[in-house]
Amino acid sequence: MDTRAGPPKMPTPPHRAAEAPGQPRSASFHGPMGRAGSVLGLLALLGLGIVTFTYRLAQVSPPPACCLPHSEEEPLGSWEAQPQKDSCQLVLAESLPQDLPYAAGSPSAQSLAQAWLQLLDTAQESIHVASYYWSLTGSDIGVNDSSSQPGEALLQKMQQLLARNISLAVATSGTAPARNSTDLRVLAAHGAQVRQVPMQQLTGGVLHSKFWVVDGRHVYVGSANMDWRSLTQVKELGAIIYNCSSLAQDLEKTFQTYWVLGAPHAVLPKTWPQNFSSHINRFLPFRGLFDGVPTTAYFSASPPALCPHGRTRDLDTVLAVMADAREFICISVMEYFPTTRFSRPARYWPVLDNALREAAFNQGVRVRLLVSCWLHTDPTTFPYLRSLQAFSNPTAGISVDVKVFIVPVGNHSSIPFSRVSHSKYMVTEKAAYIGTSNWSEDYFSTTAGVGLVVHQQLAPAQPGQPPVQEQLRQLFERDWHSQYAVGLDGHTLGQDCVWQG
Ligand SMILES: *[C@@H]1O[C@H](CO)[C@@H](O)[C@H](O)[C@H]1NC(C)=O
Ligand SMILES: *[C@@H]1O[C@H](CO)[C@@H](O)[C@H](O)[C@H]1NC(C)=O
Ligand SMILES: *[C@@H]1O[C@H](CO)[C@@H](O)[C@H](O)[C@H]1NC(C)=O
Ligand SMILES: *[C@@H]1O[C@H](CO)[C@@H](O)[C@H](O)[C@H]1NC(C)=O
Ligand SMILES: *[C@@H]1O[C@H](CO)[C@@H](O)[C@H](O)[C@H]1NC(C)=O
Ligand SMILES: *[C@@H]1O[C@H](CO)[C@@H](O)[C@H](O)[C@H]1NC(C)=O
Ligand SMILES: *[C@@H]1O[C@H](CO)[C@@H](O)[C@H](O)[C@H]1NC(C)=O
Repeated sequence: MDTRAGPPKMPTPPHRAAEAPGQPRSASFHGPMGRAGSVLGLLALLGLGIVTFTYRLAQVSPPPACCLPHSEEEPLGSWEAQPQKDSCQLVLAESLPQDLPYAAGSPSAQSLAQAWLQLLDTAQESIHVASYYWSLTGSDIGVNDSSSQPGEALLQKMQQLLARNISLAVATSGTAPARNSTDLRVLAAHGAQVRQVPMQQLTGGVLHSKFWVVDGRHVYVGSANMDWRSLTQVKELGAIIYNCSSLAQDLEKTFQTYWVLGAPHAVLPKTWPQNFSSHINRFLPFRGLFDGVPTTAYFSASPPALCPHGRTRDLDTVLAVMADAREFICISVMEYFPTTRFSRPARYWPVLDNALREAAFNQGVRVRLLVSCWLHTDPTTFPYLRSLQAFSNPTAGISVDVKVFIVPVGNHSSIPFSRVSHSKYMVTEKAAYIGTSNWSEDYFSTTAGVGLVVHQQLAPAQPGQPPVQEQLRQLFERDWHSQYAVGLDGHTLGQDCVWQG
């Protein structure tokens, strides 16, 4: 609990700063169509050159003081030694697409639609949203379907909060789908501040992050876009952390990197100013009691160019979580490619693939990978998945298993780009990692995303919920053993993954 009385204070530096979204200012939002034109124009003008150049830049020049030198993780210190200013609480939240029944009694997390509304209900001063794109109403994408209702309710709720003088600042990608959406124009008309971050020009990627910071003390992080389909038609996983100003103010620093890059004529700083630096990272994670349970946590970021001093890179985070595992690694990601996806010429990039093989071979870790398969799956993923599966050799103590997860389309075929598992998480016996990136090189080198790593100790002699990594493992097991998870042998690969269910 905050030691101060009264309403929650805003995080101090960001909100007093000139560029901070805390103070109302005239909205600099021109609507998606106008900006799209200029982005496309610029791209046409510069062609591939800018992409290659910024890509090279990210490759060659060391990013600004991103990473601390390697050292062993510090042993867990005394929990009593740290003054407890917060009483943090973590809740896993997920969206299960409609008509995706599981066996009765299966584990589940809080519904994301509910969790988001509840989080908005706690807001008293400010909401900062980092987002890829917005599409909260059916009409945004020309679909008339009752399952858009929770998204529309969310948009309504945000307008109500603006009417109550709660500030809303949105950082969103300069290039994104759902160009016809009116959501951000509607919110801007109600006083929201919106900035489009031209990641394409800055790093050659997109702003693909998905997180909220509320009142500088609560956060949401996860795979869900600000899209009604993410609440009812797409499978998503995220986490909400309540009453945790240290972590919230640390994630706010990443929001601020987007915010300054979304200002007119912003350039990527060579070195981020000191006030963007993080002192919560892989080597010095936040330590505190979450609901009385000793917990460590930190946020990572990508690309490296958006990692000010002290911020752990998202790729290093994923690798560290893998390297620390001794028993199992369970991964649920939408896409898995040991290559680049967008950069040209394409390059082989076996960094994560090798790390999984090393964990399985060197540490005897049981590795399981659950990848999405849907209407739009690029079939070139299958040789890579089969290659990883082929590494498995249980008699030699090497255990690697790959399955695809198929969300049945059922009678929802009129809803485009839905019926898919969009989750991006990993769980080991030590830690839960909840991310926003597909697993291919571009997401770590040019695309802006974040990750959350949480580790909880077993609460001795305390009933209640198991540690978060155990909760997440149970969700993974539910999916892995469900009828929707299909082994590579059982699946007629090469066919599309449309399962009418
Ligand atoms: C750091 O200070 C600058 C200048 O006052 C401000 O624009 C920026 O928003 C601040 N950033 C953070 C993360 O506080
Ligand atoms: C967007 O709006 C334009 C013009 O009304 C229309 O032609 C187009 O089909 C719409 N796109 C989508 C994805 O709804
Ligand atoms: C949407 O569909 C419902 C029936 O499912 C219908 O009553 C309603 O008029 C439709 N709305 C629009 C805008 O087409
Ligand atoms: C809203 O905030 C502004 C600026 O902080 C203040 O002047 C105004 O009185 C507030 N209005 C309400 C209804 O609280
Ligand atoms: C957050 O802390 C406040 C007291 O400061 C408490 O009333 C509230 O229930 C807490 N919220 C959660 C979700 O733990
Ligand atoms: C869609 O299918 C589900 C079962 O899969 C069924 O419960 C529901 O009534 C169907 N809806 C319509 C509109 O046909
Ligand atoms: C992740 O990969 C899928 C499949 O290619 C793609 O549709 C999706 O857009 C990717 N994530 C994002 C939003 O870039």
